[in-house]
Amino acid sequence: MNLGKTIAIVLAAGSGERFAGDDPKQFVKLAGHPVLLHTLKPFQWCPEISEIIIVTLPAYVNRIWEIVRDHQISKVKKVVIGGKTRQESSKIGIDCCEDDTDYVLIHDAVRPFITLEVIKDIIDAVEKYKAVDTVIATADTIVKVDSNSFISEIPDRSFLRRGQTPQAFEYQLIKQAHERAIRDGIENSTDDCALVLRLNHPVYTINGDEQNMKITYPLDLHIADKLFQLRSQTIQTYDREYLKHEFRDKVFVIIGGTSGIGESLTDILLECESRVYPLSRHTSPRIDITDEESIDNALSVIFGKEQRVGFIINCAGDLVRRNVEFMREEEWDHIYDLNIKGVFLLSRSALKYFKRQGFGYLMFVGSSSYTRGRAGYSAYSSSKAALVNFSQALAEEVYEYNIRVNVVSPGRVATPLRYRNFGKEDPRTLLSPKYVAERILMSLLVDTTGSVFEINGNEGALVK
Ligand code: CTP
Ligand code: MG
Repeated sequence: MNLGKTIAIVLAAGSGERFAGDDPKQFVKLAGHPVLLHTLKPFQWCPEISEIIIVTLPAYVNRIWEIVRDHQISKVKKVVIGGKTRQESSKIGIDCCEDDTDYVLIHDAVRPFITLEVIKDIIDAVEKYKAVDTVIATADTIVKVDSNSFISEIPDRSFLRRGQTPQAFEYQLIKQAHERAIRDGIENSTDDCALVLRLNHPVYTINGDEQNMKITYPLDLHIADKLFQLRSQTIQTYDREYLKHEFRDKVFVIIGGTSGIGESLTDILLECESRVYPLSRHTSPRIDITDEESIDNALSVIFGKEQRVGFIINCAGDLVRRNVEFMREEEWDHIYDLNIKGVFLLSRSALKYFKRQGFGYLMFVGSSSYTRGRAGYSAYSSSKAALVNFSQALAEEVYEYNIRVNVVSPGRVATPLRYRNFGKEDPRTLLSPKYVAERILMSLLVDTTGSVFEINGNEGALVK
């Protein structure tokens, strides 16, 4: 419990040479949002943080104010221009704090997985120890080498840690540490704790988090994307009351809404007192997502009637299980028309309406088979992989219009489509459509776009 003035300084003035992207890595998109925004959120949420200062590059100041404004990161009071080195940027941030500041937390903008727990732990510790680093144990053996590449020492691993951020300090102590470093001609230290140690002041450590990775190389962005999906998945606990609270009176269009997962979605939403339009080729209005005219017609009827439509969920899709050698061209076209071209046509039509109303959510039901092609599934799983990339691209295109696009990828579900293709399977090994529908609806409440939610079973998920 900290009652003093605690400021978070977020360092975003690097140019990301090792990452080598078009934009510095703190601005690239992760799950639809700039990395920096993910980083800022936990500091905004943490009640013990009084204020946030962002240190950045001159060309990005306006863009940051836009991000901060659009996402109500109201604790950001200053966006200032950094220096040539991390040390310099850090000093600039520190010098921007008012003199009555009690503590500062210095954090890399490129560590977007920082959690509220770590922030709280470090704030508790800094009151007691005045200087604290966030570290994790090292799985690899660390060897020290000399200038000729020979090992000079293998330190005992049990005493080694990997340093992360945030690092937290009593304000006057870190200020003094930086001033001393400059006086001693030290200009390119990458670690604020190192400067405090030079004052012979002890630095305590708390445990960070394996997932609190730093985005440094291009590969790290792929790992971060995957981590983000896993995190999205783990926060989905099902809560009917919560759904009801969020979805009452909201308008849903469910395509493929009369059987399988779509039917279960419709049932649950009706119980939540949402306004639901389950559509198929046999409903009125009729919809066939391979036929643009029918899509336009159905959407214009519904938007005309409701004015505002919150969510369009597409469950329509098909599967033909056949090896490439024996697959007919019509079968191939059928799968691609339905699973991917139909989604394109549906999206193009929906965007017209969503842009007009100023918001909207497109959710596409994919399949866990998108991650790997298996014998017999060449058309199906490649179309589901295409669906994921299509959705990520679209999510970026429409982000600024407040339109979200995500995919859910369930494992094997007990649906008519499955029974048609696989005959009798032991139903106890399949996910129930109701379980999958519940998870899909929970995932709609996660604040993200361009993401894939993987839905896997546990005991309670299987068909009884
Ligand atoms: N940083 C900064 N000012 C600098 C250098 C770095 O604010 N002059 C910030 C970066 O924006 C990043 C953090 O310090 O959030 C950690 O630095 P690093 O991962 O090294 O980022 P870059 O310096 O941008 O990358 P590179 O070293 O590959 O150029
Ligand atoms: Mg650097």
